[in-house]
Amino acid sequence: MAKESVAIIKDKLSVKRIIEVLNKALAEEWLAFYQYWIGATVMKGAMRSDIQREFEQHALEEFGHAKLLVDRIIQLDGTPLLNPQQWFEYAECRYIEPDNDFEVTRLLLQNVASERCAIKRYHEIASLTDGKDFTTCDIAKKILADEQAHEQELQDFIDDVKILYSETSLYE
Ligand SMILES: [Fe+2]
Ligand SMILES: [Fe+2]
Repeated sequence: MAKESVAIIKDKLSVKRIIEVLNKALAEEWLAFYQYWIGATVMKGAMRSDIQREFEQHALEEFGHAKLLVDRIIQLDGTPLLNPQQWFEYAECRYIEPDNDFEVTRLLLQNVASERCAIKRYHEIASLTDGKDFTTCDIAKKILADEQAHEQELQDFIDDVKILYSETSLYE
């Protein structure tokens, strides 16, 4: 017998389309996880230890998002991406490789750009499922709130590092 989780939404929305967009988000979460995780290990510059901790925390949260997405894909009788090679095929939020000698402001700006893309992704999923697939919509809204918090936390560090650099130049 068909699963009720799927049956209750299939007349309102294409389940295939929901699974497709959840897999896109899944690919993006793994790339975001690695972008934070590797960024934390190579980073150099002002307030490094505080920002490293923040990157590590965000990496763990992106990992948690990946788990929420996979669980929902399985509930919907879909198959989560099984091969990391698919991450680049599916992701529309691109992976941004740490560059510019891994300077901390640069890494913050790269990751804030990725968060902005993630915010658009979850806004899209929440809008798509709103009033039709309550469970996916709730998951998307929860992750959306986390990504907005990530954007704000990175932006706060960017502002603090700027103040620190301008104060340092006062003594030169
Ligand atoms: Fe995320
Ligand atoms: Fe994030």
